[in-house]
Amino acid sequence: MKKRKTILDVAGMKDSGEKISVLTAYDYPFAQLMDQVGIDIILVGDSVGSVFSGYENTLPVTLDEMIYHTRPVVLASEQALIVTDMPFMSYQVDLSEARRNAGRLIKEAGAQAVKLEGGENLAETIAAITAIDIPVMAHIGLTPQSIHRMGGFKVQGRQEAQAEQIMTDARAVEEAGAFAVVLEGIPAKLAAQVSAELSIPTIGIGAGPDCDGQVLVIHDILGLCDKYSPKFVKRFADVRQIISDGIGTYINEVKTGVFPGEEHSFK
Ligand code: KIV
Repeated sequence: MKKRKTILDVAGMKDSGEKISVLTAYDYPFAQLMDQVGIDIILVGDSVGSVFSGYENTLPVTLDEMIYHTRPVVLASEQALIVTDMPFMSYQVDLSEARRNAGRLIKEAGAQAVKLEGGENLAETIAAITAIDIPVMAHIGLTPQSIHRMGGFKVQGRQEAQAEQIMTDARAVEEAGAFAVVLEGIPAKLAAQVSAELSIPTIGIGAGPDCDGQVLVIHDILGLCDKYSPKFVKRFADVRQIISDGIGTYINEVKTGVFPGEEHSFK
């Protein structure tokens, strides 16, 4: 049995300059594969709503859905730190609801940490959750749960005032006790400044090469979705084609009687 990484290991990686690898997973097989290959952190993202459930965005995802998807990821993994997303409206109403819901993700789902979207505006919530010993990863910049305020998935922090707010957000989440922060959809130069100033690790997605780590959605890097792919996504394999070929061959062999053969039949 391998030793599971902790938030202390992740902090140590920033200190030693080792980049932190993060991928999303929402089920047992993917979590097991990436854990065995050596991923540092598995994020059970609320992107499950888009890439698994087919929702238009992450807003409809519920806490029960996050618990359902986190459990198999925890069971399948031995060495990765498991962080799970707090979905929209599970932490915004008040502090006691935020604490209770973060607690459910740890107690019922087995995650080691939670992630929530917000900076200065959510600092009190981050402090309240960390005060009951639940590690929090913050998420600032382009925050998908704020799609209606942002008017779409747009790069944040290009204007000076916005960039200053992102810097303020970064300082606020560190001060509130977050153990790491996701920087999404911000200019690479700004992400580099934030990463240099903070003592906690920054995990970038569409935030350039100077973050302390990188996160991407597993379906995006494997080409599993046929949806629009943002500029920051690199496709590392074309699994969709492989699956499609396999299914096509199965259909053909069933229709032509090639499958099942004698070797697949009982005497
Ligand atoms: O929901 C998610 O998958 C995320 C990452 C892409 C950062 O929040």
